[in-house]
Amino acid sequence: MIEHFNLPKDKLPYHIAIIMDGNGRWAKKKNLNRIKGHMKGVEAVREVVTACRELGIKVLTLYAFSVENWQRPAEEVNALMGLLKEYLLKESPEMIRNNIRLNAIGRLEDLPPDVLEILKKTIKQTEGCDGMILNLALSYGGRSEILHALKRIFSDLKDGRIREEEIDSPLFSKYLWTNGIPDPDLLIRTSGEFRISNFLLWQIAYTEIYVTETLWPDFNREELLKAIADYQSRERRFGMISEQINGSKE
Ligand code: FPP
Repeated sequence: MIEHFNLPKDKLPYHIAIIMDGNGRWAKKKNLNRIKGHMKGVEAVREVVTACRELGIKVLTLYAFSVENWQRPAEEVNALMGLLKEYLLKESPEMIRNNIRLNAIGRLEDLPPDVLEILKKTIKQTEGCDGMILNLALSYGGRSEILHALKRIFSDLKDGRIREEEIDSPLFSKYLWTNGIPDPDLLIRTSGEFRISNFLLWQIAYTEIYVTETLWPDFNREELLKAIADYQSRERRFGMISEQINGSKE
């Protein structure tokens, strides 16, 4: 058991992915500007990263900015980029202290140069850390990722680096931006919407999904523990039957 949490440690999700939704609604409910919602959202990011690290979660993937989010008003896009830059600048010493390696997935080349620079710098600074991977999805889209992989596979086929017979799921996974990271065990979505929103389309084939009504700025350690406890109560069969999973003849 993990002290104070009452969660069995052996059934902890290795990889948790989160669709952090509801910042805008949180702000609206309080008659605040949407950007205030994102600012409070960053505080929730801090709390959840710390809690995951303490719990022994090995990978945390956060959907911080989608390819579609570029279409939001410029003021909001700029504010989100500013918050991201500020977060990276402030948190990099903390990441190193807590042995957290930063990784990013998405069309990173779309990011403003100053944000990309600090992102690359933090990734480099934390590359020796092996306690947990904090994986930020930035300018990320699941379909873009799959198409990007497909194009690279075609090019490797054409140039003879791979043969058609070699193409299977594990090989395909290696061409994705998440190469080397096991698929998520648990996907959390806040603010009550039952949608995937173009997130990790290939990787979530057997992921357990948990949706909470809580808006992202209100999500915290306690909410995270609730999601993990719910995950631990489920039986993952991966398309098989219970007896095969439990090794019993009953
Ligand atoms: C969804 O809320 C949230 C986002 C589009 C951005 C998430 C970003 C943050 C939490 C802050 C920056 C991240 C990091 C890692 C520092 P929404 O605006 O779609 O909410 P709504 O659906 O209620 O309008």
